[in-house]
Amino acid sequence: MHLAMVGVGYVGLVTGACMAEAGHQVICMDLDPEKIEALRRGVIPIYEPGLEDYVHRNVAAGRLSFTTDLKEAVSKSQAIFVCVGTPSREDGSADLQYVFGVAKSVGQTMEDYKVVVDKSTVPVGTAARVRQLIAKELARRGVDLSFDVVSNPEFLREGAAIGDFMSPDRIVVGVESDRAKELMAEVYRPWTEKNHPLYFMEVPSAELTKYAANSFLAAKISFINEIANLCALTGANIVNVRQGMGSDKRIGPLFLNPGLGYGGSCFPKDVKALIHTAKTLAYNFKMLEATDTVNMTQRHRFILKIIQHFNGNLDGRKLAIWGLAFKPDTDDIREAPALTLIERLLDLGVQLAVYDPAAMNEVKKYFHQHPERDRITYGEFPEAVLPGADALIICTEWQVFRKADPQAIKSRLKNPVVFDGRNIFKPEAMRDLGFTYFFVG
Ligand SMILES: NC(=O)c1ccc[n+]([C@@H]2O[C@H](COP(=O)([O-])OP(=O)(O)OC[C@H]3O[C@@H](n4cnc5c(N)ncnc54)[C@H](O)[C@@H]3O)[C@@H](O)[C@H]2O)c1
Repeated sequence: MHLAMVGVGYVGLVTGACMAEAGHQVICMDLDPEKIEALRRGVIPIYEPGLEDYVHRNVAAGRLSFTTDLKEAVSKSQAIFVCVGTPSREDGSADLQYVFGVAKSVGQTMEDYKVVVDKSTVPVGTAARVRQLIAKELARRGVDLSFDVVSNPEFLREGAAIGDFMSPDRIVVGVESDRAKELMAEVYRPWTEKNHPLYFMEVPSAELTKYAANSFLAAKISFINEIANLCALTGANIVNVRQGMGSDKRIGPLFLNPGLGYGGSCFPKDVKALIHTAKTLAYNFKMLEATDTVNMTQRHRFILKIIQHFNGNLDGRKLAIWGLAFKPDTDDIREAPALTLIERLLDLGVQLAVYDPAAMNEVKKYFHQHPERDRITYGEFPEAVLPGADALIICTEWQVFRKADPQAIKSRLKNPVVFDGRNIFKPEAMRDLGFTYFFVG
């Protein structure tokens, strides 16, 4: 089939590459000419394990191409996947300007029947508004063309995106016409043939499913963080509580890692957007409001631990940070807890030496106009940021940090103090080695 991806970010590029891998003819379109130019040269603009191979292989096979021309992408495709960002607005609602912008452009350029697929995470009712916008543009042009709008939310995780896309737990498609249903069944035939479940449902149900799934996972993280905080107050051990709790099949062990809370481009904004959707319907989603509050409080509790350890006197101290990305195996720093920590520590006069295996360039860009940016130095490898530091702070649980030798850490730090925001070391072992070791729980 001929498919277009509009918006070539984490979701658009992965979806495009995986659809091409499955045998479809895919054209990826983005407004950003530098991104498209880089992709044409074979340079992948994001860090995502395995993605480069997929892109190169499918470009070489002639199944994957890139353009900045929406008209070209639309004219060549039977289905147009909208994969643009839907960031949070001030009031927590999803900013749909990019989705609506694409809808308008499709209405202005389409010449025959198209299926427009909302793959971006969008609130209930968005497909209906996309439909209206396209119809309005067609009416303005005085043409009578049929089209369908489908909701096909994406559940991939950054860092494991290829595996998630190629072997999904489920595919959700909200659809209103048999014609669009048949087309979507054909798009996903390579998956259903391998017994990956495809659930067709009403469009609003598909739209809400995505928010329900992300909000539930976010709530699970906030829940375990509250339990970890209670462990610290009661003398219980979060590692054991987590194991005892998570081995119950009804609960499961995943998303029960206490830490600095969730970040990234999805959970924070999706939780806020669902709270907002509920509010517009006069429904007070109390549990999600608490999920959001607990999540932000978690970072600040951790910062407070650092401040208390130094008796409030951080001015001129040097601290090392391991991990900047919001989670391992990605360069994505959107809403990363490390950013909150860095900003607060700079305010307090701290000198920071930081290291991340993938996200350093993103962090440099993020802070490039910060008045105190000169107080951040970037190490080339984990141990490089340790010499002379008054403590090490761990913000992301990259594998390379888990494998680090605590003795080597101790020998380089000025003081053997570790604030472990991801509980990657064993507290007893660290204390036996002479560390002052802080963890979550
Ligand atoms: N990142 C994830 O892990 C993930 C997972 C599931 C769902 N989602 C959802 O998918 C959507 C996209 O997320 P992302 O992380 O891929 O975003 P992103 O910011 O990485 O990429 C969005 C891309 O869209 C492009 N764009 C914006 N307006 C455009 C237009 N009018 N025409 C063409 N291109 C345009 C931007 O230049 C950018 O390259 C969001 O709604 C997000 O919530 C993301």
